[in-house]
Amino acid sequence: MSAPANVCVVIPAAGLGERLGLDQPKAFVSVNNWSLLSLTIRRVLDIARVGHLIVAVPLDFKTEALEHIDRAMRDANKKIPFDVVVGGETRTQSVKNSLLALDQLDSFVLVHDAARPFVPQSVFESVIGKLDSGAKVVIPVIPVSDTIKTVNEKSEVVNTLDRTQLRAVQTPQGFAREVLSEIYATTDLKPTTDDAGLAEIAGINVSTVAGSVESFKITTPFDLEMATNFMNRK
Ligand code: C5P
Repeated sequence: MSAPANVCVVIPAAGLGERLGLDQPKAFVSVNNWSLLSLTIRRVLDIARVGHLIVAVPLDFKTEALEHIDRAMRDANKKIPFDVVVGGETRTQSVKNSLLALDQLDSFVLVHDAARPFVPQSVFESVIGKLDSGAKVVIPVIPVSDTIKTVNEKSEVVNTLDRTQLRAVQTPQGFAREVLSEIYATTDLKPTTDDAGLAEIAGINVSTVAGSVESFKITTPFDLEMATNFMNRK
């Protein structure tokens, strides 16, 4: 049997997090004295197959990022090779910059938001498992519990979407390395809110696996309160 494919995790952590209304970039905001970045990396280190980490941070945050990476690695008592790169103006650009640090050995690349620090190990494993079975692009999704309507510029309802066909999309989003490199290599790269969006534009099939409510994304001050409660619950 051949050795399992090497997995690299890319963590876009270069967002300014303006919707949080704090004076530091979102990934560096703390919950119970742990930054979102350290918490996220700590989770990633629990995944045995991950052998390389690339973190994209805002300009001037490279040194600080090293401390947060070091803290997670000390806590996990595990060190893996890592790179810290400067992100871009959009999440898409931050991921593109990260891909320059890929190693030849990285066969699968999982892109995971620093803003989702509580992602369960099982979600990483489902994504990697689907890539192992030959899928080229894999995303975790959960059913939508609210009714979703589209509205016009006057905030009037245009129509109601069929909820049974809707899914909320999370990270980590997994890619065969050559597919991710290819979709990010285009010169007129359109900023998308997730990486699989670029695969869809390129006409590449995207598979789904079950995500988790625990992978909620921290965006607003209320999410930060939820994060504190979540950590204290354990
Ligand atoms: O802003 P949003 O919550 O959608 O960002 C998702 C993830 O993308 C966060 O972890 C954030 O730090 C990252 N990001 C980035 N570069 C940007 C914008 C967002 O790395 N320019």
